[in-house]
Amino acid sequence: MKKIIIAIDGYSSCGKSTMAKDLAKEIGYIYIDSGAMYRAVTFYCLEHGLFDGNEVNEVELAKAMPDIRIEFRLNAETKRPETYLDGRCVEKEIRTLAVSQKVSFIAALGFVREALVRLQQEMGKEKGIVMDGRDIGTTVFPDAELKVFVTASAAIRAKRRYDELQAKGEKGSYEEILANVEERDRIDMNRAVSPLRQAEDAVVLDNSEMTVDEQKTWLLAQYGRVVGRGE
Ligand code: CDP
Repeated sequence: MKKIIIAIDGYSSCGKSTMAKDLAKEIGYIYIDSGAMYRAVTFYCLEHGLFDGNEVNEVELAKAMPDIRIEFRLNAETKRPETYLDGRCVEKEIRTLAVSQKVSFIAALGFVREALVRLQQEMGKEKGIVMDGRDIGTTVFPDAELKVFVTASAAIRAKRRYDELQAKGEKGSYEEILANVEERDRIDMNRAVSPLRQAEDAVVLDNSEMTVDEQKTWLLAQYGRVVGRGE
């Protein structure tokens, strides 16, 4: 069957990565979490003391950027891809609230986006991938055969993220997480470079009232519609 590119964009914490991962597994595609790449750069900045409040030392980061190595490696046990920064697994470190609170400032920097978009395009060269993020269907792969734009109410998204962090034993109150979800949406939608917006040819999924299984079925039907067409 012909291989395609599937772009899944949408607001923060709306379950994009769960659905993207499930779909990739089901159809034998590679899953790429583009948000993990912005998170890895953010973690790098935190570790290297490049933040002063919400301001990042752009000069130092621009110098370091060409040497920052981000890759995904499959965990042999869990069979899930994990994010590596300069050869070290940072999968857990990049999911903390501390990183979530800074990531949108890093993601607004043009030179960071340029470098990461280039890497993402390289990863999708052979097609057969599901990539999730904010600008996949608009900037990274404007010709993706299937584009999905996911949305859900902010309260529901914050509750999901809260449950996820609690399950992992991480810190963060519901109020703090809701504020972070809303703040990131605001910054992501209003930045000058590749703001979060729905591609004109994207199909919209509001999953506020959907179970994980229901969204999986919906997405598989979308995939079937696209690959079944024109073959
Ligand atoms: O998991 P969640 O949906 O909350 O966020 P994420 O996908 O891990 O992305 C973290 C942050 O990276 C977002 O809030 C955006 O600021 C940024 N991002 C982006 O700008 N472009 C992408 N393609 C992916 C993420």
